Amino acid sequence: METVAIIPAAGSGTRLRLETPKAFVPLGGRTLLEHAVAGVLNAGIELVVIAVPRDLKARALDMFRTQPNVQTVIGGTERTESVRNALAAIDGKPTYALVHDAARPLTPRRVFDRVLTALRAGHRNVVPVLPVSDTVRTLTSQQPEEVAPLGAPVERARLRAVQTPQGFTFDDLVAAHDRFARDTSTQMTDDASLLETMGIPSVGVEGSHEAFKITHPLDLELARMLCGRKEYT
Ligand code: C5P
Repeated sequence: METVAIIPAAGSGTRLRLETPKAFVPLGGRTLLEHAVAGVLNAGIELVVIAVPRDLKARALDMFRTQPNVQTVIGGTERTESVRNALAAIDGKPTYALVHDAARPLTPRRVFDRVLTALRAGHRNVVPVLPVSDTVRTLTSQQPEEVAPLGAPVERARLRAVQTPQGFTFDDLVAAHDRFARDTSTQMTDDASLLETMGIPSVGVEGSHEAFKITHPLDLELARMLCGRKEYT
């Protein structure tokens, strides 16, 4: 097998303010998770492992019962743990692993293709990125405050927002997660950062605005509008 894809889908989606965990929210007649799985399979990936909340495992198994190339595991309390659980379920040794958020259901095929092309060219840690439109500042204080002091602006031209699917050599991803499991003092919000702690620098390929992450209610509204257009159905 050349490539396995892992879809962490065990988040609660608190910021979406819905009862249903985010990956199971409907979008154009399917769940976000079904969209994400379809996107991965459409990119030619042979095996997909999804990590879902414990109480939704039966539902996920039923959802993908006719697709033997979709495996289901129970996720963890952190995204990193969900990815680790999925890695532990993989038999055999694929060459590459993609990790793709269920929360990015409209990611176009060309983004998968760019990541896979960079992996095949020998890059070991590949992330899709987009230029940032807003000016970005850091808060100078750790405490959230109503009127918050700001640090100096960061040079915007060189800033990039990071998306998924992120691509790695399978062995590096396993090693990075093994290492992280023993050192949980560092909190990482993506897998590329984990590989960097092992000295494997990441490279960026062009992402897509359509690969936006559904986080807030407005994101879901936008996705539903886009889904109504023919090319997304
Ligand atoms: O919370 P956030 O939007 O950053 O989550 C990104 C992805 O990670 C989502 O697809 C979410 O379902 C997944 N996740 C997970 N397990 C967690 C937390 C998040 O699989 N404990």
